[in-house]
Amino acid sequence: MKRASFCSLVCLLLGYGAVVFGGTTKPTSRPSSRHIKFSPKGKKRPLVIGHRGLSGWYPEHTLGAYRAAMRRGADFIEPDLVMTKDGVLIARHENDITHTTNVAKKFPKRKRTKLIDGVKVTGYFTEDFTFREIRRLYAVQRLPFRNQRLNKRYRVPSLREILKLVQKMSKLTGRPIGVYPETKHPTYFASIKLPMERKLIMELERADFLHKPGRLFVQSFEVGNLKKLHKMVHDLPLIQLLYTPKYQPYDLRLKKSRVTYGDMATPKGLKQIATYAKGIGVPKSMIVPIKGGKRLPPTTLLSNAHRAGLLVHAYTFRNEKRFLGKAWKTPVEEYQYFYRLGIDGVFSDFPDLAYIVRERMWRIGREKGLPLFAPR
Ligand code: G3P
Ligand code: CA
Repeated sequence: MKRASFCSLVCLLLGYGAVVFGGTTKPTSRPSSRHIKFSPKGKKRPLVIGHRGLSGWYPEHTLGAYRAAMRRGADFIEPDLVMTKDGVLIARHENDITHTTNVAKKFPKRKRTKLIDGVKVTGYFTEDFTFREIRRLYAVQRLPFRNQRLNKRYRVPSLREILKLVQKMSKLTGRPIGVYPETKHPTYFASIKLPMERKLIMELERADFLHKPGRLFVQSFEVGNLKKLHKMVHDLPLIQLLYTPKYQPYDLRLKKSRVTYGDMATPKGLKQIATYAKGIGVPKSMIVPIKGGKRLPPTTLLSNAHRAGLLVHAYTFRNEKRFLGKAWKTPVEEYQYFYRLGIDGVFSDFPDLAYIVRERMWRIGREKGLPLFAPR
């Protein structure tokens, strides 16, 4: 790494520490060569995935949040997708947009109660609004303890706009940035005649993201829609999301299958996933379990998945103490731990810090002539 960029990296890290670690200019725990052990075989850097954009600082799933994530080092940005009444794919974590927009103020009469994936939900739903109506809304910060000052700045973006922005930022930054869309409630949307799969493929093709290795992953907590996508575009890089082991993917539950996420995480389940997907997206706790606030030794999931030929991306990394609990002194320590384990990617609300920590570990590894992260 050139001296200038090394200096800026260190400055960035110190500056970040001032924000994250409570106003001091010295972070409480900075990665150093003393703390970092490197795998002898590793080659690739783990991916930094901007979870809902740089959602730690910006209202999630806005062009502002995505742009900031890309500017600050994210390799991928992650839009969760839902449908509007007129069939436009837009970025929201839920089709209920009560808590992520000012919809209740703008359209007070549109409140409904519905059964979404078997759960009764009362709110304002994207499928009851045209894209034109959605555009009249502002995105707002969902979490009360995060920055509320950008609440009237950004609109709800369509996937098309997001893809355009990713292409633009790739040109501006000179590095090929990827997009990692997630289909939310695909079975539910198909049941109301708003299927997502064909639309998604069409948009990806239109923006030239299909058949571009390293620029695309498509993820889902359900199984059926991933298999359908696999049939539609055979080389589509799919990621099967897993969740708390005792739960089931909604579409499997609907089919009266007894398969749980726990079953899917066994060597046999992983082998089955590898028939249609390139990897799995898993809660961090399935890799490093936390019990009584303390972390336990890592499970075998990561190595089993690698053995099945699957990538492993873990979610969700967040800076705030309330999410770190007693398991991690700082978010830096958490990233270092997962990077050393050989994780292939991290979904982070703060991709800026995930990037800084990764680059520092990479630099130290290079300086010491040690190969880098993942034993792959
Ligand atoms: O997609 C990975 C991770 O984002 C899954 O959790 O609920 O934030 O979409 P969620
Ligand atoms: Ca997601």
